[in-house]
Amino acid sequence: MKALGVLVIFAATAAAAQEAPGVESAQRAKMNWMLSCQGCHQPDATGSAGGAPSMAGEVARFLNVAGGREYLTRVPGVANAGLSNDQLAELLNWTLATFDKDHLPADFIPFTADEVAAGRTHPLVSEAAVLRETLRGNFVDDGRVGGAN
Ligand code: HEC
Repeated sequence: MKALGVLVIFAATAAAAQEAPGVESAQRAKMNWMLSCQGCHQPDATGSAGGAPSMAGEVARFLNVAGGREYLTRVPGVANAGLSNDQLAELLNWTLATFDKDHLPADFIPFTADEVAAGRTHPLVSEAAVLRETLRGNFVDDGRVGGAN
């Protein structure tokens, strides 16, 4: 009985790890989202008028356009978050997997603390909104992923 319990826990852990690449603790990531992000983005990432644009069902599409991956590490809300590089990388990976799993490329390489740290050294300021629209203009329209990069 005991052995079975251990097996079940092991299987559950493995499944969770597979579900969200680069997320060590989904619980911690969700807590960080609640504390640092959802005030603007809303719990379900649908955004709010004048607050933040919707990321639900869309945010991972930035990974498929040139410059998009870097953009995600430089938007003000991410770059200036009061979190360590480790936890910020985890939170970004969690955000992508939680709110736009469908567009996550099959060969997605999770963000690391180093990559996030590099983006944070040159955060976007007022140009974020314009860059966002430019990148979105390059989104692949047919809903398929892995196209342009
Ligand atoms: C003060 C409000 C605010 C907070 C807090 C905030 N964001 Fe944002 N976020 C925005 C806005 C606005 C944009 C659109 C880009 C821009 O104009 O800055 C954005 C864009 C993004 C993007 C790029 C995707 C896109 O659709 O443009 C990601 C990823 C993101 N935010 C994640 C986060 C995470 C993770 C946190 C918490 C650590 C966070 N944000 C906190 C307002 C916020």
